[in-house]
Amino acid sequence: MSQPRTLDVGCGINKYPGAIGIDRNPASRADVLCDLDNVPYPFADSSFDQLRAIHVIEHVSDVIRSMEEFHRLVRPGGRVALCFLGRFCLWETLHFLLQGKFAKAFRRCKGKASSAMEVTVFYPKRSAIVSAFHPSFRLRAQYGIGVSVPPSYVTYLSARTIARLSSVDRKLTHRPLFRSLADHRLYIFERI
Ligand SMILES: C[S@@+](CC[C@H](N)C(=O)[O-])C[C@H]1O[C@@H](n2cnc3c(N)ncnc32)[C@H](O)[C@@H]1O
Repeated sequence: MSQPRTLDVGCGINKYPGAIGIDRNPASRADVLCDLDNVPYPFADSSFDQLRAIHVIEHVSDVIRSMEEFHRLVRPGGRVALCFLGRFCLWETLHFLLQGKFAKAFRRCKGKASSAMEVTVFYPKRSAIVSAFHPSFRLRAQYGIGVSVPPSYVTYLSARTIARLSSVDRKLTHRPLFRSLADHRLYIFERI
C-alpha cells in the first residue's frame, strides 16, 4: 500500500516525516513557501489524504477561509489533525494568579493576546472551530494535551514530577472535563 500523502500546514522546523510542508518562513523546513492568508494554496483539489495544522490556526487571519482550503485540498474520507491553544488552561491560570498577574492569568478568555515579540495569538473557541468545519467535516476525536503537564514556562517542577504528570496526562487526554482544561487541543476531523 502506498504511503498517505500528507500536507503539513505551517510546518515550521518540525515538519512531519514524509509530509509536504508549507510555511511562509524561508528558515522553516517547508517544501513550498506560501502565505496561508493568500488562497488558493498551490495544490490541486483533493491532493492529500491527510492534513496537519499544528499550532498554525492561531496565526491565520481568517480561519474560515483556511478551513475552506483544507476542505478543497483533502480528499473525501481524508483526515485533518488540528492542534491549537485552548481558551482556558488551568495550569496557566493558576501559575499567573499565584504571581498576582491577573490579566495574564485570564488572557486566553479574551480570544487573543500578544505573545513574545508582539506576535498576536488567537485562542479559538471549540464552537468556532467545530462550526467552521461544519458541515464539510465530521469531528472524529478530540483530546486535551497538557492537562496535568504544565506549559514550558513553569520551570519549578523536577523532571521526575513532569514524567509522573505525563503519565497522568495520557489517562486524562480524551476525558471531556479534563481535556477542556488543557493547554493544547487536538481535534481530528474527517472530510465528508
Ligand atoms: C507555532 S509555529 C508551529 C510550527 C509547527 N507546526 C510545529 O508544530 O512545530 C507556527 C508556524 O506557522 C507559520 N505561519 C504562521 N502564519 C503563517 C502564514 N500566514 N502563512 C504561512 N505560514 C505561517 C510560522 O512561520 C510558523 O512556522
